[in-house]
Amino acid sequence: MSNASLFERAQQSIPGGVNSPVRAFRAVGGTPRFIARAEGAYLWDAEGKRYIDYIGSWGPMILGHGHPAVLEAVQKAVREGFSFGAPTEREIELAEEILKLVPSAQQVRLVSSGTEAAMSAIRLARGFTGRPKLIKFEGCYHGHADALLVKAGSGLATFGHPTSAGVPPEVVQHTIVLPFNDIAALEQAFETHGTELACVMIEPIAGNMNFVRTQVPFMRRLRELCTEHRALLVFDEVMTGFRVALGGAQSVYAKAIPGFAPDLSVFGKVIGGGMPLAAFAGPREVMRHLAPLGPVYQAGTLSGNPVATACGLETLRQIQRPGFFEALTASTRTLVDGLVAAARDAGVPLVGDSEGGMFGFFFADALPQDYNVVMATDKERFNRFFHAMLDRGVYLAPALYEAGFVSAAHTAADIEATIEAAREALRS
Ligand SMILES: Cc1ncc(COP(=O)(O)O)c(C=O)c1O
Repeated sequence: MSNASLFERAQQSIPGGVNSPVRAFRAVGGTPRFIARAEGAYLWDAEGKRYIDYIGSWGPMILGHGHPAVLEAVQKAVREGFSFGAPTEREIELAEEILKLVPSAQQVRLVSSGTEAAMSAIRLARGFTGRPKLIKFEGCYHGHADALLVKAGSGLATFGHPTSAGVPPEVVQHTIVLPFNDIAALEQAFETHGTELACVMIEPIAGNMNFVRTQVPFMRRLRELCTEHRALLVFDEVMTGFRVALGGAQSVYAKAIPGFAPDLSVFGKVIGGGMPLAAFAGPREVMRHLAPLGPVYQAGTLSGNPVATACGLETLRQIQRPGFFEALTASTRTLVDGLVAAARDAGVPLVGDSEGGMFGFFFADALPQDYNVVMATDKERFNRFFHAMLDRGVYLAPALYEAGFVSAAHTAADIEATIEAAREALRS
């Protein structure tokens, strides 16, 4: 069985042959790899070829694939029942574990996908404040809810245009799209719309335009403006939560900005350990507006699923072992430093950055600070590099605007082999 024949067959029954667009390799060209199995830091495709995996299911697999303790917890849960549609003790345990690690939140609601979590957080912010508008930033992705599929309109602080067919312009009329890391644009938007703003949603370290940090002065000003105008600051930590640090990106910014905390947080990926599970969380005062206590409706047949919660709970327990994040941070840093050094030796402009187990690199001279600069980096070179690495058994994200992920299962030898592959790829 070949990847090509599976892809051909898949396209007969599944639109584009995939169930999520980026998997189709459209950005880089070529045939997607159909994955047969995974273990530790490795994936094997349908042709039996092994890859060192730097996607980790787009973030969740922080322990690597098939961690024995997680496998055991999931197998035990499966035997007890797949789904009850009634509350379970494990949901409380997972909620308590999340709240222990995220001091900005006092309550958390579990859902099944990041899309759902972000969409529900916005509804809650609107219900809580009684205001309609929200700000998001260019290059940040918060799932595919209608109101979030927006790109900037012409001129600052104008309303956005839908980025997807099927989203009527009226549905995005309350969404304001601003450039990332631009304090002047932010101040202008608050000046114009401050009294109508329910919330500002941001990826604190954006992983959907490769890897772009919010600069500290920008974050400080964002927090001030939200507080001043009584708009909620919503951190989308679907990618960064329990991934860049045990306390997520908010703990990273709290180190730089004393007393810093978002109002609401959105989680996904790592909290499910590879199972469909996500969450949104915040202070009790806000969360009590959710049904059944309050008027903001939100529900889900499979929310808090017993198998998914078992997987997420064991994953969260494992990442709290002493030294876990120190080791993950160090191996991710070694990878990025190695890629930069390999490029320097090959005379290729490449810069990289990482936090905890999340990283990014760009074929550019300096780290981009916003979406337009990311998209202006060398796409052709990225695509060539991607395929050269894939040929050498290294599975990077198949688009230059995606972040990468290292797991605790990646050994020093895996990282070294990756850097060696990059040396060859960059010379070719
Ligand atoms: C920051 C961020 N928010 C939300 C989402 C949507 O999550 P999901 O794909 O689980 O719906 C993603 C997905 O990659 C994400 O990266």
